[in-house]
This record gives sequence, C-alpha cells and structure tokens, in this order.
Amino acid sequence: MPVDRLGRPLRNLRISVTDRCNLRCTYCMPERDYVWLPKAELLTFAELGRLVRVFAGLGVQRLRLTGGEPLLRSDLPVLLEQLAAVSGIADVALTTNGTLLPAQAASLAAAGLRRVTVSLDSLRPDRFRQLTGRDELAAALAGIDAAVAAGLRPLKINTVVIRGGNDDELVDLVEFARRVGGQARFIEYMDVGGATHWSGDQVVPRREIIDRLGAHFGGVAPGPASGSAPADEYVLPDGTLFGVISSTTEPFCAACDRARLTADGRLYLCLYARHGVDLRSPLREGATDAELAQLIGATWLAREARGAEERLALAHRRPLAAAPELRRDPHLEMHTRGG
Ligand code: GTP
Ligand code: 5AD
Ligand code: SF4
Repeated sequence: MPVDRLGRPLRNLRISVTDRCNLRCTYCMPERDYVWLPKAELLTFAELGRLVRVFAGLGVQRLRLTGGEPLLRSDLPVLLEQLAAVSGIADVALTTNGTLLPAQAASLAAAGLRRVTVSLDSLRPDRFRQLTGRDELAAALAGIDAAVAAGLRPLKINTVVIRGGNDDELVDLVEFARRVGGQARFIEYMDVGGATHWSGDQVVPRREIIDRLGAHFGGVAPGPASGSAPADEYVLPDGTLFGVISSTTEPFCAACDRARLTADGRLYLCLYARHGVDLRSPLREGATDAELAQLIGATWLAREARGAEERLALAHRRPLAAAPELRRDPHLEMHTRGG
C-alpha cells in the first residue's frame, strides 16, 4: 500500500459519479449558471469498475459514492453492485441529499449498499427552500424514511451549520435524528471551491456547537469515536450520539487517507487541491492495469496535501475560488470533486 510523504496510507476513495445536482445549496452551488462536465467525458461503469479494481489492488478498502447528487446518475444500483463486488472493497457508502431515495433506497440496498449519509440542513420547509433553492423538504424527509425502511444503517444526517442560516436548529436536528434512529452530524461551513459566499463569521466552530447542545441537553461527553476523522463523536446524557466535523477550525489532514475521483476521471488528493491527475486519458488510450497502478501509486507517494490546515494558517481567509475561476475550471467545484 502506498504511503504519502506525511505517512498517510491510501485507504478511502470517494467517487463523484455525476457533477449534476437537483438542489442548489447556498454553501455549495449559489450561482445562477454552471458549466457541466461533457457527457462523453464521464467514466462509464466499466471504466469505473476497472479503476476501482486498480485502487483496491493498491489498498483502498472503502468507497463512497458522491456527486453532485449521485442518485441522478442513471442505473446507480447497477454500478454499486459492480463496485461492491470488487475484491478488497469492504465497504461502500453513499452521500446524498435524499430527495431521490424514496424511489431508489430499496434497489440500492438490494444492490449491496449498507449505509447512507443524507444531507439535511433544515427541518423547516420555507428555510429548506431558501437554503437549497428548491421546495424539496418533504422529498428529503421521505427519502430518510425510505432509507430506514430499506435497512440502511448507520444512517448519518449531515448538516452544514451556517451562523444566522440554520444554527438555531441544532437541537431540533439532534432530536429528529434520534427519532428516526440516525445520527446527526454537524459540519463546519468550509471555504471550499463552490462556496463563493463563504465568510469566516458564518462559521460556527465545533466548540460552540458542543456548548450550545450541552446547555440544552444538560451535558456533552466524548463519544466512542471521538478523535477519529472526519467526525468526532459526542454523547448526550440520555445516550444519544451526535458528530461534529470541524474541517474549518480544527482540520484533520494529518489523518486524511482519502483520494477523490471526479466523474470524468480526475484524481484529486485533497478537497482544496488546485490540480488533479487525469486518469481517463491513459485509461482510454489503452494503459494496462499495471500502468494505471503505477501512475496512481506514484501520485499518492508524492502527496503532501494538507489543504484545510494550510487554509487555517492564512491571515485572511476567503473562498478558495471566485465564480469566474470556477467557470473556467469546474473541477475546482465541491460538487465536481465530491462533497
Ligand atoms: P464516514 O467516515 O463514513 O462517516 O464518511 P464521511 O464522514 O467522509 O462522510 P461524508 O461524505 O458524509 O462527509 C461528511 C462531510 O465532511 C463532507 O460532506 C465534507 O463537508 C467533510 N469532508 C469529507 N471529506 C473531507 C475531507 O477529506 N477533508 C475535509 N476537510 N473535509 C471533508
Ligand atoms: N462546507 C461544508 N460542507 C460542504 N459540503 C458542500 N459544500 C460544503 C461547504 N462549503 C458538503 C456537505 C454536504 C455535502 C454534499 O457536501 O456535507 O452535505
Ligand atoms: Fe484531506 Fe485535504 Fe481535507 Fe485535509 S483538507 S482532510 S488533506 S482532503
């Protein structure tokens, strides 16, 4: 297994299966227009299967399918079944906004999906519409029900916390997650590509999230998975667990074992990376598995990425890229490289 320059193994691969999304979350896709990846450049299922076999040969054990909204990719259960069957892959998960789960949860579970993470930023219909640009709260909630009914567990419910946006719903979200048998996880608002409206004062730091929940519920203690990136786990007096992902104020780059693959086959070593490595061209030009493994392995060996830590050290922190630059290079977008 290749180990990078900071001693981190390559264990996790996050695959963005489409850059398209049916929501327009203010922290990810706040602009009016987007430049999409050309359809002909998207990796086919056969190409994805081949790359995953190569990654698994290098030591990758865990896959996560993301987007955009991954359920917009046609026949996703077929892809999932193929990837879950690759030797060496022990775990396949999915990050989705949930709105298409009512139609797909059962077939995804039948195809081998075990667990799911659903993004949910508000429980209030008017606010959900404001935060996501679409009137889809009912669909997202129905999606969560469908995931529960399909037995997808653990069910994680991810909320990007925005000061003045939804930070008054922390308690409601913990209670909602408990009610559906899931775990709430609060994510600090990140200055990633796509977050063109980001500003530091909108970030609610982990400490404050914990303090606010502790004040309401009567105490918070470290949970069993505290300290294991990306989410630190906490436990409330009644045993309810919740997680906090403090990517912005207390990054976890030192433990980052993830590679990211875009839908058009570019390998990124960090969420904040400016450049990626094109795997699609060699793949389509007839490279052997050994050649692909050599390319990926060498790329990982040279990895020094610690994007979130570098950003934390900046004196003046601003969004990673402005809208014109994102239009010139959509690969910088969070929705392209996988949230
Ligand atoms: P599990 O380990 O299975 O819980 O996966 P996960 O936490 O990676 O799941 P998920 O895809 O839900 O990630 C949650 C959020 O954490 C993402 O949407 C991002 O906001 C943030 N995140 C995920 N990966 C990274 C990463 O590599 N670096 C940083 N800084 N943040 C990340
Ligand atoms: N900050 C934090 N998380 C983000 N995501 C997208 N953009 C951001 C951002 N600016 C993550 C969220 C969301 C997932 C799809 O991508 O976790 O739920
Ligand atoms: Fe990994 Fe980059 Fe995120 Fe740090 S910022 S945890 S190196 S993806």
